[in-house]
Amino acid sequence: MLIKTRTDIPASEITPEPVYRARRDFMRGAMSAAALGLGAIAAPPLFAAPAHVARGEGRGPDWLRAQIAAADENTRALGETLTPFEHVTSYNNFYEFGQGKTDPADKADALTTDPWSVEIAGEVAKPGVYPLEDVLKGMDLEERVYRLRCVEAWSMVIPWIGFPLAALLQRVEPTSKAKYVAFETLVRPAEMPAQRSRFSTIDWPYREGLRLDEAMHPLTLMAVGLYGKTLPNQNGAPLRLVVPWKYGFKSIKSIVKIVLTEREPKTTWNMMQPREYGFYANVNPEVDHPRWSQASERRLPSGLFRPNIIPTRLFNGYAEEVAHLYKGMDLTRYY
Ligand code: MTE
Repeated sequence: MLIKTRTDIPASEITPEPVYRARRDFMRGAMSAAALGLGAIAAPPLFAAPAHVARGEGRGPDWLRAQIAAADENTRALGETLTPFEHVTSYNNFYEFGQGKTDPADKADALTTDPWSVEIAGEVAKPGVYPLEDVLKGMDLEERVYRLRCVEAWSMVIPWIGFPLAALLQRVEPTSKAKYVAFETLVRPAEMPAQRSRFSTIDWPYREGLRLDEAMHPLTLMAVGLYGKTLPNQNGAPLRLVVPWKYGFKSIKSIVKIVLTEREPKTTWNMMQPREYGFYANVNPEVDHPRWSQASERRLPSGLFRPNIIPTRLFNGYAEEVAHLYKGMDLTRYY
């Protein structure tokens, strides 16, 4: 991956999680009061509530915003400081829009995400092309606060909104032959500038994959929102994967295809540099990337005078939940 040591983001004020919650609770109260016609008697805010904490905001269809606004809150809090919304949405990797960290925020606005559908194919009893509305129909959305650790050694803490991938896979009924799940991102060169660039080295679509048991793990999330809003385009609207114990490149964005397979699927970074990026990509401070250490990470926001370097944890701190999936495997070989 293209590594820059410079961060484009100045260190700025962090929104501690309790402050975010308090603001959000206020906004929820204000929203329901407004719905009841009680706007005039809603209590004044303790904190100036920025636009981004009003639930159900963002782009996308009304039905999706309503479903997000009704999501169960924060069922898996970490007790860690959230990375501010501004940083989560302005420091991104989304190579379809360029290699720079600000390219996605600068260029992804043009992406059309409504209507959207997801093709589900391969080893399932119920293959089909499912409109996003059908994918989301009857799904109980919930908020999950997860650490996101990029293989480039920076990390964030993000309040996602989504549903377990397992709930979707169960609906399409994997056959007994299904052993892996492959994912693909949209290919639309007219709206994704790097896909029409002659200099792009990536063989589009961006591809990722999981073993079926990893895909069915309750931590594996299909996200449709963050910070109470629909996903901004630069974060993978309208639907992306989040696998919190793996390096961020596994968390594929703007998914249009899911295929259940018998064989391990090809994945983008592994195809490009197999010795640097494995299929598993589990966060592991003891297995260094060939070109840099993975022992520590830069928790964003970070800057020259406050680099905010913290030790990296095995499986990104989720070992208790996921280590059993890799029992007996040599993690230096299956990196
Ligand atoms: N998905 C697609 N389609 N294209 C990408 O370039 N980059 C990956 C992953 N998903 C990427 C992608 C990488 S390297 C990381 S670290 C995360 O997205 C970053 O997610 P974020 O920008 O929301 O923080």
